Amino acid sequence: MSLRLGDIAPDFNAKTSVGDINFYEYLGSSWGILFSHPADYTPVCTTELGRTAQLADEFAKRNVKVLAVSVDDLEKHKGWIGDINETQHTNVQFPIIADEDRNVATLYDMIHPNSSENFTVRSLFIIGPDKKVKLIITYPASTGRNFVEVLRVVDSLQLTAQYSVATPADWKDGEDVIVVPSISTADAIKKFDKGVTEVKPYLRYTPQPNK
Ligand code: BEZ
Repeated sequence: MSLRLGDIAPDFNAKTSVGDINFYEYLGSSWGILFSHPADYTPVCTTELGRTAQLADEFAKRNVKVLAVSVDDLEKHKGWIGDINETQHTNVQFPIIADEDRNVATLYDMIHPNSSENFTVRSLFIIGPDKKVKLIITYPASTGRNFVEVLRVVDSLQLTAQYSVATPADWKDGEDVIVVPSISTADAIKKFDKGVTEVKPYLRYTPQPNK
């Protein structure tokens, strides 16, 4: 059965471009992003992994460890990393899993047979420090993901894990947030010392609490 939000992310051991790893040990107490791509030496994937490498400082700032996965082997990964570094002007340092036996792809339901029998689709999982799945997105092979959006979701997840708020459409770090429906406006006013704006009884905004 496929994974759903709130499920425990399955642990695994894997061969990667930076050596053998155990997933949980690699994550430690960090947040994690596990994302699959269809195949090495393909154009969209080259840009995606390059972009992820370029954003290394942004992931580190948020205490997020990233891992990529495809069903190609280690030798291919190593050669391709050279191409990614050359063409995307970056330095890939995160692990790329060589999932030849499809262990990770099966655990995370990354092969969608009606899309492709053999290759992983563009799945992406954000995993919290509690090892629970916080976000699942699936893109087709022909559409590269927006990794700035992935960082935006991490910001929202980390904020909403700490405070009784939610983030509105298109929210970005630093903008006003929404008071969750379970808190009355009277309680929200006591809780959020930067103020609460009530647009409707169910739609209340407050400035981002940790800014
Ligand atoms: C790509 O990464 O460029 C790609 C992979 C599979 C199908 C289409 C594009």
